[in-house]
Amino acid sequence: MKKIDRPRSTVKRRDTLKAILGIGLGLPLAKRAASNEAAMNAPPQIGDVFVFAFGEREGERIGPDDLSTDARQIFAYPMDPATGVIRKGSRLNQVLLLRIDPARLSERMRSRSVDGILAYSAVCTHTGCDVADWDAETLRFQCPCHDSQFDPADGARVVGGPAPRPLASLPLKSENEVLAAAGGFDGPVGFQQPGLDPFGF
Ligand code: FES
Repeated sequence: MKKIDRPRSTVKRRDTLKAILGIGLGLPLAKRAASNEAAMNAPPQIGDVFVFAFGEREGERIGPDDLSTDARQIFAYPMDPATGVIRKGSRLNQVLLLRIDPARLSERMRSRSVDGILAYSAVCTHTGCDVADWDAETLRFQCPCHDSQFDPADGARVVGGPAPRPLASLPLKSENEVLAAAGGFDGPVGFQQPGLDPFGF
């Protein structure tokens, strides 16, 4: 086959064109990846729905029917319903969902709940463990690390152990039977060191 010699300037121009096209195609993808990452790390937003954080149903939407009265908390992540991005980039976004008899709720928590369903930060305010245990007798959250206890009916007030603060709560709303966040956390999330913002903002 005849070898075609092209002037160097033509080859160079073609390579430059390819590079520009590559950058042109790659940039939107890179931009989208960066914005997805930002959305995954962002704290819960108004209108976010909730999905199971772990287990067989990981990633599935959580509805009111998944929450029985006085049953142990479910670990969830918020999800942007418009984009489907699950905000699991930071464990500080982990949320505990549970349902309590509305008659037992403090007035403030009743206004932040949907039919007794409440949402709290899952990160202990002592040294940041997951608040994974549930005392079915006292109906309290219990942290497995140093046994701090929190009363979910009363704003996750600390009722035992070394935790210095309640768990931050997340107000809820229901639109067309869909459970969603009605705002952001009402206080600092997790273990706080002076001068450090856990979300890095
Ligand atoms: S980290 Fe929860 S009690 Fe210590």
